[in-house]
This record gives sequence, C-alpha cells and structure tokens, in this order.
Amino acid sequence: MQTLSRWVRAVTRAHLLAERVAALENAVAAAAPPAGSGIPPYVEVGSEARIGDGVDFFGTDRARVAVGARCRVLDGTRIFGPATIGEGTFLNRDVYIRPRTTIGAGVSVGPFARFVTETHDLGDPTGRAGRGRTEPIVVGDGCWIGADVTVLGGVTIGDGSVVAAGSVVIRDVPADTLVGGVPARVIRGLGPEAQRPE
Ligand SMILES: CC(C)(COP(=O)(O)OP(=O)(O)OC[C@H]1O[C@@H](n2cnc3c(N)ncnc32)[C@H](O)[C@@H]1OP(=O)(O)O)[C@@H](O)C(=O)NCCC(=O)NCCS
Repeated sequence: MQTLSRWVRAVTRAHLLAERVAALENAVAAAAPPAGSGIPPYVEVGSEARIGDGVDFFGTDRARVAVGARCRVLDGTRIFGPATIGEGTFLNRDVYIRPRTTIGAGVSVGPFARFVTETHDLGDPTGRAGRGRTEPIVVGDGCWIGADVTVLGGVTIGDGSVVAAGSVVIRDVPADTLVGGVPARVIRGLGPEAQRPE
C-alpha cells in the first residue's frame, strides 16, 4: 500500500512538473521575437508580428517586403516583393501575394486568396500570352478579403470593403462596399446609410 501511494505521489509530481514546463514554454513562445527563423534580410517585420513556419518571402534589397507590426501571417503564405502589409493585418494560410501589392492596416485575408499583379497583352495565335506587364494592387484599411478570392492587377479596393469568398475582382471596388461573384459586382454598400433593417 505504501509503495502504491509513493508511486501515486511520484506520478502526480511528474504531472505537475510537466504542466509547469508546458506553461513556461507557452510563456517563452508568447514572448519570442516576432519573426520566425530564416527571415531574409530584404524582409522587415514589425514588432509583435507573428510569421508562421511555412511562410515564404521572395525579394531583393530593391524589392523589399514590409510586414507591419502585430500582423499574423499563417503557414504556406508566399509574399513576393516589393510588397507592403499594413499593421495588424491577418493573412490566413496559403495566401499568394505577387510583387507590387499593397495591403492596408487591419485587413483580414481568407485562406487561398491570390493577388495576381502580372498579366499579358493578348498575343498572336502562336502564343496568346503576349508581352507581360505588372500592375499594382492596393487593398484599403479594414477590408475583409474572403477565402479563395483572386484580385487582378490594377485593382484598388477601397477602405472598409468586403470581397465575398470565391470572387474574382477585375475592377476597382469603392470604399465600404460588399462585392462578390465572378467577376465581382457590387452586392450592397456597407456605409452607415446602407444598414439593413433588422
Ligand atoms: C459575403 C458574405 C460575408 C455574406 O454577406 P451577407 O451580407 O450576409 O450576404 P448574404 O448572404 O445576405 O447575401 C447577399 C447577396 O450576396 C450574394 N453572395 C453571398 N456570398 C457570395 C459569394 N461568396 N459570391 C457571390 N455572391 C455571394 C448572395 O447570393 C446574395 O445575393 P442575392 O441578394 O442576389 O440573393 C459571405 O457570403 C462570404 O463570402 N463570407 C466569406 C467567408 C470567408 O471567406 N471566410 C474565410 C475566413 S477569413
């Protein structure tokens, strides 16, 4: 009996110790520096930003990537410089951001969204994807870009707008506007004058 109670006390002590170690590990993780390991020198990461393990950055000293303070960037996201992500913005998993994309502050981007700045002129029948060019994308502050959205080059999305899941945005979106569909069309305004009746 004595052996059994000694064994129970030992197991309980080991359990408490394991809990304490886990709590300590969590505290250390919370206080860890924002950027994960292997952040390249052409990437600037603001304070308290959190970068997932599988995030890839591409750029050079002349094509930098800036990720603002308090951003969260989840695994599998790929960002090509030059690109700027504003403060407190959330990029869900597997977001794909091509060069010359600017995303504002407080934006939420759903999983598998794509910002495709490159396009081609129509070529002749031997190669319809003709001369290539890049046009910038700008996403205003506070926007919500739904899952699996594609935004094409040359598009500006105004502050406070929402793009419904699965949409393809081919033209500018005014501020405070919900758009959706392929191609995305205005669904309704979101400003104070456009509040829906209860
Ligand atoms: C747009 C959304 C926010 C719903 O907003 P809502 O104001 O509640 O919209 P409703 O469901 O009332 O639909 C309003 C209209 O938008 C259309 N709509 C809604 N979602 C749409 C979509 N994804 N694509 C195209 N049209 C859409 C509806 O068909 C409806 O059209 P109708 O009036 O002609 O019938 C939601 O559909 C959505 O896309 N959420 C994104 C979810 C997501 O990406 N999550 C990832 C986590 S970040």
